[in-house]
Amino acid sequence: QKLQLNLEQIEKGGYDHFMLKEIYEQPLAIKDTYRGRLLVNEAIIKLSGVEDNMKRFLNADRIIIVACGTSWHAGLVAEYIFEDLARIPVEVEYASEFRYRNPVITEKDVVIAISQSGETADTLAAIKLAKSKGAFVFGVCNVVGSSIARETDAGAYTHAGPEIGVASTKAFTTQITILTLIALRLARAKGTMSSSDYRRQLQELELIPEKVTEALKADKHIQAIAETYKDSRNMLYLGRGYNFPVALEGALKLKEISYIHAEGYPAAEMKHGPIALIDENMPVIVIATKKGHYEKVVSNIQEIKARKGKIIGIVTQGDVSVRELADHVIEIPETLENLSPLLTTIPLQLLSYHIAVMLGKNVDQPRNLAKSVTVE
Ligand code: G6P
Repeated sequence: QKLQLNLEQIEKGGYDHFMLKEIYEQPLAIKDTYRGRLLVNEAIIKLSGVEDNMKRFLNADRIIIVACGTSWHAGLVAEYIFEDLARIPVEVEYASEFRYRNPVITEKDVVIAISQSGETADTLAAIKLAKSKGAFVFGVCNVVGSSIARETDAGAYTHAGPEIGVASTKAFTTQITILTLIALRLARAKGTMSSSDYRRQLQELELIPEKVTEALKADKHIQAIAETYKDSRNMLYLGRGYNFPVALEGALKLKEISYIHAEGYPAAEMKHGPIALIDENMPVIVIATKKGHYEKVVSNIQEIKARKGKIIGIVTQGDVSVRELADHVIEIPETLENLSPLLTTIPLQLLSYHIAVMLGKNVDQPRNLAKSVTVE
């Protein structure tokens, strides 16, 4: 048993938990995911799974994304990316709902299944259903040779490396990375993007790992914020556009490992319900980066402040307006709007991590949860 303990410590590479190690691995995991695929100088994206099936992608009337949990959140980000950059209509479905609701699927549909483990039972069943209707099914998996990787017609692996912590972190950011590459490749093929915008996208994507490293430097500051709010009973996460799914993911992270109730919401929907919950005991985490409905989110922040809610703003470096209103701000480097989820996610992961540690919870193996859900 002693040997096993030591082995685990070695595997954690000096970090207290796998989750923290995996949060810190993200710069490298993202780089590993685009390495050999993103060729900035040549202005090329190479993804053989997409290239070999370009006709299917280009003839698709729509893309249906199926996934569960955090992978479903990556799918929601991908919906914004595909529609915005490649102008392809996208539907994102919980695999468990999709498989049982007699969905309309045709041979012209492209289904993208996203799964870290490649073993999620509902996602696997959704793939089988889509295939039986003649759809082309593309997998985005992390685990090589997994059931979903084998069952799909083609795919692209995220190269995140093993993810041990039950709460998914680097799988999420690498999924967004690969889905961005796919969307950009299709945008180029469809001509929905100018070559200068395309180049700019590639250059900015290449810079993301160092910007993640920069975002990680807020760790100590985030730890102090965690200390202030660790005893909260509820938390609200708000974001808009590309960062609405990040708000959902931030809330999920907190629920999973600290057992604090949290809700993610599109910022503009706040007035249709959650605003009723806001008082001096409610911390509200608001993603308010410069590009992305900034002014509108700032006015949401004013509404929260008027009701005495505690505001934690995730902002772009150098932000002034939110700083004046918020109780705390956490800065992230500037990037293109569609790439911002890769950065705004980082402080939310760290916040939930520190709160869970402070509450003495089992961060890597939260109660009632499994890393891979192979039953319905
Ligand atoms: C479980 C895990 C989550 C994961 C979800 C989907 O609930 O605890 O972290 O996001 O399954 O898993 P998959 O392997 O399909 O991405």
